[in-house]
Formats: sequence, C-alpha cells, structure tokens
Amino acid sequence: MTTSSSPRDSGTQSTPKPLTQDQLKTLVGQAALKYVVPGEIVGVGTGSTVNKFIDALATIKDQIRGAVSSSVASTQRLTALGIKVFDSNDVDQLSVYIDGADEIDGKGNMVKGGGAALTREKIVAAQSRLFVCIADASKLVDVLGKFPLPVEVIPMAARRVMAQFRAMGGVPSIRQKDGQALVTDNGQCIVDVTGLQITDPRAFELQVSQWPGVVTVGVFALQHAQVCLLGTDSGVKTLNF
Ligand code: A5P
Repeated sequence: MTTSSSPRDSGTQSTPKPLTQDQLKTLVGQAALKYVVPGEIVGVGTGSTVNKFIDALATIKDQIRGAVSSSVASTQRLTALGIKVFDSNDVDQLSVYIDGADEIDGKGNMVKGGGAALTREKIVAAQSRLFVCIADASKLVDVLGKFPLPVEVIPMAARRVMAQFRAMGGVPSIRQKDGQALVTDNGQCIVDVTGLQITDPRAFELQVSQWPGVVTVGVFALQHAQVCLLGTDSGVKTLNF
C-alpha cells in the first residue's frame, strides 16, 4: 500500500477542530470527482458516503453521460439530481466504480453491505476497471470482522447458512426492518454475522460464496479497492493497493 495526503487547510496556524464524520464523508465524496472520466458513464455505489459523492457528481453532470447504479436508493438520488441512470446490461465496461465500505483493510479488501446493497454493488464493481473506495478513517481496520458481516441469502436457506456460520465461530442473525425480516432490492434477506476474524478475505469469500443459498457474501476481496480516499482530520489520504 502507498499513501499520499492532501491537507484540508494549509493556511491556518491554529489546530483545526476535528471534523465530524459527516464532514469527512463530504470531503471524500468531493475528492472522488477527480476519478470520474469526462464523457463516460460512472459506476455508483450506495450509502451515506456515496450520497455525498452523488451530490458532488451533480455539479459536473453535464460532463458525464450518466451512471450505473447499485441500488434503488442511489438510483432515486441520481435521478432526482438530473443524472441519467443506465441499466448495467446496456453498458460495457465502466472506467470507474465509486463506493463506500463498512471496513477496509491495508490491502484494499472490504466488508460491505451495511446498506443491504452488496449484491448489486459487487455486480457493478465487477463491471468496472477501477474500484475507488471512499470512507472516513473509522473504516480502516487491520483485520476484517469488527463490523457485522452482511450476507445476502435466499430465505429458504437462511437457517442452514446461519448454522454454517455458527460452526465457524460466528454469531448470525437475520437483519430486521420495522419488526420484520428486511427484504433486499433483490427480494432476499440479509444475515449479519458478528464474531468473525477474516484473516484471509479471498479464501473466505470463495468459501462462503459456494454455500447453497448464499447470493452474495459482503467480503470484497476478489473485487477489492485499488484506491481508497480516506477522510482524516488532516485531510484526504489516498491509499493505493
Ligand atoms: C451498502 O450496502 C454498503 O456496502 C455501503 O457501501 C457501506 O455500508 C458504507 O455505507 P456508509 O457510507 O453509509 O457508511
């Protein structure tokens, strides 16, 4: 991993107040604009950090053809801001995919799916040449597993998949919304697993992806980030993997 920084304010002498998490998200959302290729279609992720990116993207919307979106929520925000959304099947390879993460390690491996959009996120990431992760500094970890691991599962398989996670030391639960099992954009459920230490993300992703009924595991090692724009109190750090 290589690192470079852009200070947020070089003109002040006094120690600046720490930025809020929301301000850090705004910083990295704006910083991601430099990876958008003029005249092209950009891959857009999901979540509160990506919402900041979408807002920034709207300021240059006349310079791009549009976006491929990874969720109903992002599609709605993009459309409301006047950015054309293309179906992923109507587009060949994308030059860049920009998305947040729940966790990212020092090699660009991520845990994603806190917003339940992991399946479409992995699809658009696979369609893109470059994955730029935008995250505040709280997301950087040594080993993946601090954040509950989201796994999208066909409801019929949930009980068995949960038993398989228990057998590897995890504590699984079905994600709830409004007192009922959450239903994803794809009509499936999410199993969140705590208590895991994912020391070999690639092997873990390959293993769990093969379990019958698993639609998508929220470990992104095969589609890991090549760049992470990390929002810190001293500015945006660029990590290259
Ligand atoms: C959505 O399903 C997730 O993968 C998000 O990218 C991830 O949860 C990060 O979201 P925030 O930017 O809201 O923290």
